[in-house]
Amino acid sequence: MKIVDTKAELAVVIGQLRAKGLSIGLVPTMGALHNGHLSLVKQSRQKADVTVVSIFVNPTQFDNKEDLQNYPRPIDQDILQLEQNGCDVLFMPEVAEMYETGESWDYEVGDLDSKLEGEFRPGHYKGVTQIVYKLFDAVKPDMAFFGQKDYQQYLVINKMVRDFSLPVNLVLCNIVREPDGLAMSSRNVRLNAEERKTSVVLYEALLFIKQHFYEYTFAELQHKAEQLFDTNPLLQLEYIKICDLNTLEEINTKEAKNLIVLVACYVGNVRLIDNMILS
Ligand code: PAF
Repeated sequence: MKIVDTKAELAVVIGQLRAKGLSIGLVPTMGALHNGHLSLVKQSRQKADVTVVSIFVNPTQFDNKEDLQNYPRPIDQDILQLEQNGCDVLFMPEVAEMYETGESWDYEVGDLDSKLEGEFRPGHYKGVTQIVYKLFDAVKPDMAFFGQKDYQQYLVINKMVRDFSLPVNLVLCNIVREPDGLAMSSRNVRLNAEERKTSVVLYEALLFIKQHFYEYTFAELQHKAEQLFDTNPLLQLEYIKICDLNTLEEINTKEAKNLIVLVACYVGNVRLIDNMILS
């Protein structure tokens, strides 16, 4: 595995691969890799000739300084996992390599910026689109792989790709779960034993809505799912909403098709998100 930390070095590597006519898959990450990330690497290896993984904890997408400081950075372990899982190129730049001081980014994220994650994490998607645009520009991938756990992020990036007519195909990959159902996330390592046990409620609430979808009205489903979070003082629910799969508009009619239920909740000090496609 080649490890590069500057855009100039990366351009040389990418140029050589392109000259050989090889297709490139990009898996953008912020490190602290788990089996969810590794499943993206696996899909990239199946679909593209060469897999590039980026590890960059992007400061502009954190609305909370503490969250940025506490973000896990087990870089040696990440490198080992990537080597063992067939990554070809690891791009791991420093912040100064990706950002000029005082740089601005005026991309209009649109409606998705004011809903769900956009509402609770103001500016988050501005930062995500800013860095993903830069990564696409640096790597020039044919395909880029994103996990369904960050479904709203996928929709936002998809819109950006269309808005700028970027020549990259996005591939949405299934959520990878722990045996008890908790969606894999880099933040899970910050949960203590009790929080870890409690965190399964996110999955249980999503599953409850999916399994009882035809049994209750929307209001009942919502209320009963919310009640699951009321019983434990470690939990602070931000939202659990049934939405249109393409627009994330909140839906309250059973005639609607293509639905997804999304949840965000603090478990102790750790903010977790999850979702499940209903139809
Ligand atoms: O999903 C993530 O890990 C990040 O938001 C991403 C896409 C790597 C951008 O920093």
